Amino acid sequence: MSQSLTIALSKGRILDDTLPLLKLAGIEPIEDLEKSRKLIFPTSDPDVRLLIVRATDVPTYVELGAADLGVAGKDVLMEYDSQGLYEPLDLKIANCRLMTAGPVNTPEPKGRLRVATKFVNVARRYYAEQGRQVEVIKLYGSMELAPLVGLADKIIDVVDTGNTLRANGLEPQELICHISSRLIVNKAAMKMKHARIKALIDVLGDAVERRSETE
Ligand code: ATP
Ligand code: PRP
Repeated sequence: MSQSLTIALSKGRILDDTLPLLKLAGIEPIEDLEKSRKLIFPTSDPDVRLLIVRATDVPTYVELGAADLGVAGKDVLMEYDSQGLYEPLDLKIANCRLMTAGPVNTPEPKGRLRVATKFVNVARRYYAEQGRQVEVIKLYGSMELAPLVGLADKIIDVVDTGNTLRANGLEPQELICHISSRLIVNKAAMKMKHARIKALIDVLGDAVERRSETE
């Protein structure tokens, strides 16, 4: 197998926070990714290319081998819930918390709780562990709206500053998990391109450590 590498990233905070780390490993896109509509980008390393995919699709590209590596939020990985990937490095970027949230000062309903979220697997597991019967309602975004219009009693979403919840009269309630983004690796690529991938993991790991020390 050739030692070329394909890395799947998503536009926005993951791309913004991963590019400086890749730069330290000598990998820089040749053109400005944010300005382009292209989805495959060569880099300063002729053996490395970047793919731009939706954040929730990164694990799929990596598990199925269309990309050797990727960067995905732990929330996305918990929802994807597969043993078919390696997760060798916490990049400590895009830090936030996965939480339940609901209307301020509102008691929970007596009957079955209705929870709106894009993280339906996480939600089912979380409430099953507590032995609670819930109706999980799948949404694709703007979760904060659901309790305001009677679609759900609560939501599960990522929270950083809490501004989005506050702006919609909601409050963070239970912490499900601290979230950061992880480097993920295809299992076959890890075997077949081991030296190349190990070297990249080491450089990125050092960069993460150095950044933590200066923070
Ligand atoms: P998609 O575009 O597929 O719907 P998304 O909108 O969740 O995905 P991003 O907003 O780029 O994609 O978020 C990428 C990751 O960043 C998330 O999976 C999560 O781990 C983290 N994240 C999301 N929101 C925040 C936030 N407000 N602050 C810090 N990190 C966040
Ligand atoms: C995320 C998330 C919340 C918000 C939380 O949305 O879905 O709405 O961030 O951050 P806060 O606690 O600092 O307000 P994002 O900004 O990624 O927009 P999106 O809905 O397009 O993903």
